[in-house]
Amino acid sequence: MDFFRLAFFFLKKAHLFAASFRIWAPRLWEHYNDTIKRLEGCPGTSRNFDSSVFPCACLNLGCTVCCFHRDPRNLPYGWNPVTVFGPFDHREGGHIVLEDFNLMIQAPHGTSYAIMGACVSHGNAPLADPVREHRSSFTQYMPGGLRRWLDNGGATDKYLRENDPVEFKRVQAWKSGNWERGVGMLSTLDEVMEWLGHPVDKDQAV
Ligand SMILES: *[C@@H]1O[C@H](CO)[C@@H](O)[C@H](O)[C@H]1NC(C)=O
Repeated sequence: MDFFRLAFFFLKKAHLFAASFRIWAPRLWEHYNDTIKRLEGCPGTSRNFDSSVFPCACLNLGCTVCCFHRDPRNLPYGWNPVTVFGPFDHREGGHIVLEDFNLMIQAPHGTSYAIMGACVSHGNAPLADPVREHRSSFTQYMPGGLRRWLDNGGATDKYLRENDPVEFKRVQAWKSGNWERGVGMLSTLDEVMEWLGHPVDKDQAV
């Protein structure tokens, strides 16, 4: 595929996802927005995509089969937008497989979806014709380590432990609430509808 067309395709996908992430998880989006703003304040850093709040992106070219895995280094409560592309028959292979939910989902070329990659076991089905077909993917993510580094006031755990043990203990105690705080930033459908200006009328709902 022509390089510029490919670059444009990713740019479009990155922007599209930034917008839908904000709709489906507005409070988590704000957390990402705040994180990337603070990272941008560090010398020598710049965003991958102007409108995307994800600090990292990864291109898997021609990865035909992925075994089930979780991405434990990602932000545990974070989302990973993924776009699938390439010439392959999505009815015969290349499905997204979510082991925890016993789900296999067809994902034709150009499909974008988001999963909580650190928590949910994911993989994809083999291609029907691995010689002639290719399936690649483009993913954006936030490594948990970046957030830890910010929460430490711009230091690694090791540095803080060795140089400021009192502050290290304080931050560690605060971090023990990270999972509840993180999950608390996910939105319910009611909240999303309200955010969009279409609150669900509980009395009318059947
Ligand atoms: C997102 O971050 C930018 C700075 O990078 C800020 O100007 C903007 O107000 C933030 N948006 C929200 C909704 O918090």
